[in-house]
Amino acid sequence: MKCRKCGREAGFNMRRQKLALCAEHYLEWFPSQVERAIHKYKMFTPGDKVLVAVSGGKDSLALWDVLLDLGYHAEGLYIGLGIDGGFGYSRLSLEKIEGFMATRPGAVLHTVDIPQTYGESVPQVARRKHRGRGKPCAVCGLIKRYVMNRVASEGHFDVLATGHNLDDEVAVLFGNTLHWQIGYLARQAPVLEERDGLACKVKPLCRLYERETAAYAIVKGIDYIYEECPHAVGATTNRYKELLNQLELDSPGSKLQFYITFLKAKEEGLFQQAAEQVALHPCQNCGQPTTAPGICTFCRLW
Ligand code: AMP
Ligand code: FES
Ligand code: ZN
Ligand code: ZN
Repeated sequence: MKCRKCGREAGFNMRRQKLALCAEHYLEWFPSQVERAIHKYKMFTPGDKVLVAVSGGKDSLALWDVLLDLGYHAEGLYIGLGIDGGFGYSRLSLEKIEGFMATRPGAVLHTVDIPQTYGESVPQVARRKHRGRGKPCAVCGLIKRYVMNRVASEGHFDVLATGHNLDDEVAVLFGNTLHWQIGYLARQAPVLEERDGLACKVKPLCRLYERETAAYAIVKGIDYIYEECPHAVGATTNRYKELLNQLELDSPGSKLQFYITFLKAKEEGLFQQAAEQVALHPCQNCGQPTTAPGICTFCRLW
């Protein structure tokens, strides 16, 4: 196969749009796709302060890298969850981020270490609260959302960007559709507007396949953590991803199609009724927005 841009041998073939590219042109194509999504969904502009949630994985590091290259004001946020899994998952994740920062002089990273700040690691809190049938993922999600929002609002960031890719979005969409979770479907979007103290959230990689972000990270020489969170093994989302990969193999582009037609249907008013929002008020303890009466779920955890 030949690169569509220069005719040299192509290293990448995006079957979904019959596009083959060499490494050099792939490194041009990928950021242009991110930029396109930022414009298309009006995520943010060059004057905005962006907080990128970085986990040490390929998606969030690739995202941070692209945003810096595109000239956006993007600072990182790493949340140390205190997860070991027998190989020092959290420690290794931070090492990868520090490695990335060494290649990016001037890049700013905010770090919130959960065990240091709150006295317990995420698996410890989950165990103490008997939440999640032995898996800390639900508590972990709650903690991550809380900390991301808090750092974004206290640091006066205009948006909070996460590294969710198309495969992540489609797996969640599939699960929500399978169970007709109308409320979740109404809220699944590339941009969630700011409201009542909840920071604006954006997903600039939402139209890029997981293998495309992995390819970008590898060609760009970004060293990232390959291992998944040890608690995510066997997660339902991963089973959905396998199913969807099968579908994509048989009919390239079907994931993107599923996602884009969903967004279009939503734009046309599907789920509008369910989009009505529950009122938020400040937590009596920490002041962060919550729907829970009195004290927020995060404060109750501790
Ligand atoms: P996940 O939920 O692990 O698939 O991660 C989705 C996105 O959440 C990542 O792409 C990051 O942007 C963000 N994220 C996950 N874990 C962390 C973490 N420990 N610290 C900061 N951001 C994170
Ligand atoms: Fe939070 Fe796995 S339990 S990342
Ligand atoms: Zn080329
Ligand atoms: Zn609170």
